[in-house]
Amino acid sequence: MTPGTGAALQLLAASVDAKAVAEIGTGCGVSGIHLLHGMRPDGVLTTVDPEPEHQQFARQAFRAAGFASNRARFIPGRALEVLPRLADAGYDLVFCDGDRLESLEYLAESLRLLRTGGMVVFEGVFANGRTVDSGPQPTEVIRIRELLRTVRESEDLLPTLLPVGDGLLCAVKR
Ligand SMILES: C[S@@+](CC[C@H](N)C(=O)[O-])C[C@H]1O[C@@H](n2cnc3c(N)ncnc32)[C@H](O)[C@@H]1O
Repeated sequence: MTPGTGAALQLLAASVDAKAVAEIGTGCGVSGIHLLHGMRPDGVLTTVDPEPEHQQFARQAFRAAGFASNRARFIPGRALEVLPRLADAGYDLVFCDGDRLESLEYLAESLRLLRTGGMVVFEGVFANGRTVDSGPQPTEVIRIRELLRTVRESEDLLPTLLPVGDGLLCAVKR
């Protein structure tokens, strides 16, 4: 994740005055730290990843960054198994950085999880330039194109594409 993407995530979390954020793809916790910096001081980040060692790493990173342990809820598992257990309209922002093949399913779950005025954010939608490359592309790039089209055509979303890092797709739920 580039510094520009991290700064944008902080800004986006602050812009929706985020108290509850759901993150798909904990990784090593870089995006989580940026989100936590932008959230309200009492906000809680719920972060999902099937790899326990990634979440362990992120837990240590959050602690080292000075965040109390009650600022993050780590849920191990695949997003499409975990997200249905999270509350309808219970989140101010959903950050999607998991399996690109599941992008459309993440969008559908995000629409259910977000309150009106909340925001869904997808990282890496440029796919290193492959999204706009006319040559043959892998399925994950096809899925990203479908995601971009679906978001653009949705009457429930007000989208924009921020050209930071590998492309940050953001959309507010109307
Ligand atoms: C690009 S990394 C995330 C990086 C992280 N956001 C950060 O800034 O450190 C992708 C993560 O998604 C996780 N992942 C893969 N498939 C997933 C799924 N189905 N549901 C949730 N997370 C998944 C991987 O284990 C990996 O940690």
